[in-house]
Amino acid sequence: MTFQKGSSELVLSGVQKAFPTRHGELNALKDISFDVREGEFVCLVGPSGCGKSTLLNLIAGLEKQDSGSILLDGKPVNGPGPDRVVVFQEGALFPWMTVEQNIDFGLKVKKIAAAERRALTERYLKMIHLENFAHSYIHELSGGMRQRVAIARGLALEPRILLMDEPFNALDTQTRDLLVEELRAIWSKIGNTVLFVTHNVREAVYLADRVVLLSFRPGRVREIFKIDLPRPRDPDHPHLEEVVRGIVQQLHEEVEKSVAEEFRAP
Ligand SMILES: Nc1ncnc2c1ncn2[C@@H]1O[C@H](COP(=O)(O)OP(=O)(O)OP(=O)(O)O)[C@@H](O)[C@H]1O
Ligand SMILES: [Mg+2]
Repeated sequence: MTFQKGSSELVLSGVQKAFPTRHGELNALKDISFDVREGEFVCLVGPSGCGKSTLLNLIAGLEKQDSGSILLDGKPVNGPGPDRVVVFQEGALFPWMTVEQNIDFGLKVKKIAAAERRALTERYLKMIHLENFAHSYIHELSGGMRQRVAIARGLALEPRILLMDEPFNALDTQTRDLLVEELRAIWSKIGNTVLFVTHNVREAVYLADRVVLLSFRPGRVREIFKIDLPRPRDPDHPHLEEVVRGIVQQLHEEVEKSVAEEFRAP
């Protein structure tokens, strides 16, 4: 399956979310409005605690906003659906299953016929270069390999929207760079819509069509950066460096606010 870049697929308007805490209401997200076009790669950056995971969970339908709307093709998101798949930081794989069984699991749940399941599993295992590890158990794999299996498991479901919450965080820099490159190559082939949360601005600028910077609590859209660099991108391109610097400067202001808040915390 391939996806075409197109019109607005996901539209968020005035999304708010608060959580009750021992110290009262915590406004996690306030007045979040932006849209994502079909086939677009959008990165979300912002200081720790600004609501990135909360926002992804709302889009995934795992949680419900207090007010505002999240529309997918004009219809409100009402719970999880096969059109959206989340890839978490820890991968959330089943350690007692093999690589192949992990990928097959979601396909079975979707009641896909055995022959097609086999074809999908094979295709995505190849895409992440783990075809020789189909019968290995998860505990036999390195962290980077596990994360690739988690990505393949998500991709095999062929969701229109892939939601990735800091999927490469636990990895060393070299493995991380390799996986970023693999993800870019896969996305350029498949072209699903991707919402990717990262702390790494350079990674965001390298991957994204647009980078959404969230402010610290309550999380609001501070700025949306359109990344106009041509693809395929050169990670050492001087203009990329310049764009990164601009975003990092604003991000640092938000991180400083979050640190100041931590020191004030009761
Ligand atoms: N279920 C919950 N109950 C209470 N507070 C919550 C809950 N989920 C999130 N929060 C709070 O909402 C805020 C946003 O959390 P969230 O996990 O979305 O931030 P984040 O941007 O993903 O942070 P990080 O970069 O550290 O992953 C935080 O202050 C967090 O403590
Ligand atoms: Mg998070």
